Amino acid sequence: MQDKILEFLKKKEEYVSGDHISHRLGISRQALWKHIQELKDDGYDIIAVPHLGYRLISSPDRLYPFEIRSHLDTRFVGRQIHYFDIVSSTMNMAMELAMSGAPEGAIVVAETQTKGRGRLGRSWVSPKYKGIYVSLILRPNIPPSAAPLLTLLAGVSVCEAIKDFTGLDAQIKWPNDIFIHNKKAGGILTELNAEMDATRFVSMGIGLNVNHDKKIESLHATSLKEQKREDVSRVGLLQELLSRIETNYLLFCQPGRQAGWQKGTSVIIEKWRNYSLTLGKRVRIAYQKTHLEGEAVDIDADGGLLIRTDTGTVEKVMSGDIIHCR
Ligand code: BTN
Repeated sequence: MQDKILEFLKKKEEYVSGDHISHRLGISRQALWKHIQELKDDGYDIIAVPHLGYRLISSPDRLYPFEIRSHLDTRFVGRQIHYFDIVSSTMNMAMELAMSGAPEGAIVVAETQTKGRGRLGRSWVSPKYKGIYVSLILRPNIPPSAAPLLTLLAGVSVCEAIKDFTGLDAQIKWPNDIFIHNKKAGGILTELNAEMDATRFVSMGIGLNVNHDKKIESLHATSLKEQKREDVSRVGLLQELLSRIETNYLLFCQPGRQAGWQKGTSVIIEKWRNYSLTLGKRVRIAYQKTHLEGEAVDIDADGGLLIRTDTGTVEKVMSGDIIHCR
């Protein structure tokens, strides 16, 4: 009901009569008043003036499901939203929901996480109301070995959404760090639930530093706000992100085609190359108990990074932490 009331209030930048809203929604004036109080508690600044009605002054930048859903142009991504003010990790929730049958495209979104997880066992700091912390459930018909490609797909989608929504140029440090002007602004964590040769579901976790203030950032991190020098609407950016993920996922999976993902792969990889911060750079990576150093020359069809060492051999790495040497 709150979403319907907001629809009325957002349509006009003036007063809307309580009689009009309650009549159109088929609720009593008293019930309307109660809903308005709840909206106010949720951070909406609404004023009420006798004989004039209600007027929306401002909306909070909260990731409420009805805010995300309004103007969302996707078919299935983000159509089921599980919203938490606070959660341990959206990954844990997504895992539980997927196990109990949540549909493809369902998302778990939180305003803060107490145990946000990063790659390689690291934690992900998730200050409240500042970032986007979202996990998306996908059920692709792909072998588990193709799952790293979904990480690339997520990276591409994040860069596209950032560019479209803020105009900022984001890049991807292999495999999945989102960088802006050489500082980390986001990351992706993909977790897989699979049988021997079939993927049951994938939980795609995305963390983005959106309105983080500079003072809480490390030297090597940044936020969209810091780069843009203004606040960025998290709802708007998330809507753009969900839309990009769906478009790229449909390109990737090409539903209805046997092993269609193999064709879709090249499209995603080509896009990834364009956003890559790593290709062409000299890199170092911990590899088989030693270090591998050389030029990052390409990624292959599995999403592995190809490194040409100084002896001229080309080695492929599938995971790890790379350092850009220069
Ligand atoms: C990384 O760069 O190490 C990946 C970070 C991924 C963070 C996101 S925030 C939403 C989701 N929930 C988590 O606990 N982690 C991912």
